[in-house]
Amino acid sequence: MTWTRGWALAAVCAALLGGCGPQQPQGDARGPRLFETCAACHGAQGEGNQEFGGPAIAGMPEWYLLRQLNKFRAGHRGSDPQDRNGLRMRGMARTLNHEGDVEAIAAYVASMPPQAPEPVLGGNAENGRELYQSCVQCHGGNAAGNIERDAPPLTSLNDWYIVAQLSLFKAGDRGTSEGDATGATMRPMAIGLADETQMADVAAFIATLRGQ
Ligand code: HEC
Ligand code: HEC
Repeated sequence: MTWTRGWALAAVCAALLGGCGPQQPQGDARGPRLFETCAACHGAQGEGNQEFGGPAIAGMPEWYLLRQLNKFRAGHRGSDPQDRNGLRMRGMARTLNHEGDVEAIAAYVASMPPQAPEPVLGGNAENGRELYQSCVQCHGGNAAGNIERDAPPLTSLNDWYIVAQLSLFKAGDRGTSEGDATGATMRPMAIGLADETQMADVAAFIATLRGQ
């Protein structure tokens, strides 16, 4: 059965019968299948792939994943022509166009075990410790995130991705789109870091907080 026919059938079944049984790709079953596409750039375990710029996403909270996928779809992230990685992801997010796709993939990725990719930038964690003090109020002392501040956990992210995002925020390629209120909250914090050396230091310190 082709992809399109499968979906058309699923839609008909849902409308007429309230579903056609467990063989139809709905709800939870859809997540793993959709993830096959994501794995190309995010890694088979969702551990990230530096070559393609796709960060570790496994185990990120569902609320954060949903919000980011919707931001990419709406163009609040990844619409700056300079932001090649963001543009790549934006194209992907826009292929999630069946009703419930975004929810299904977010739930699945959130259920995957979080990864702890090795730092590759050689940042100085001791310097990073001091710099991280200004991040605690939102991301938490253990960088586990805080939904009340809309701030995601940072410990499972790749150090190169943390630096790339801090650079995007600082340059105004993330967190400046009208309607991106949570990105706007983060932006001044990245502006407060002097350069990529400081960003790599703070990323090195964040990696030491894993498991706390
Ligand atoms: C063609 C490569 C590619 C594919 C395929 C891809 N992504 Fe991405 N994704 C990226 C890149 C690159 C980024 C980083 C964008 C940036 O630097 O701002 C990203 C970022 C993300 C983020 C933001 C993570 C964060 O911490 O804010 C999420 C969530 C995400 N992708 C989910 C997915 C899902 C789910 C799929 C499969 C449906 C997928 N991606 C498929 C390349 C890809
Ligand atoms: C005032 C609250 C606040 C403070 C302080 C703060 N952040 Fe954030 N941060 C956020 C929010 C909110 C987001 C989510 C932005 C979004 O929704 O796109 C975020 C996102 C991020 C991201 C992107 C994560 C991803 O998966 O793409 C990184 C990296 C980050 N913060 C690092 C830091 C660092 C490092 C510091 C300290 C120098 C810091 N933050 C201080 C609120 C804050």
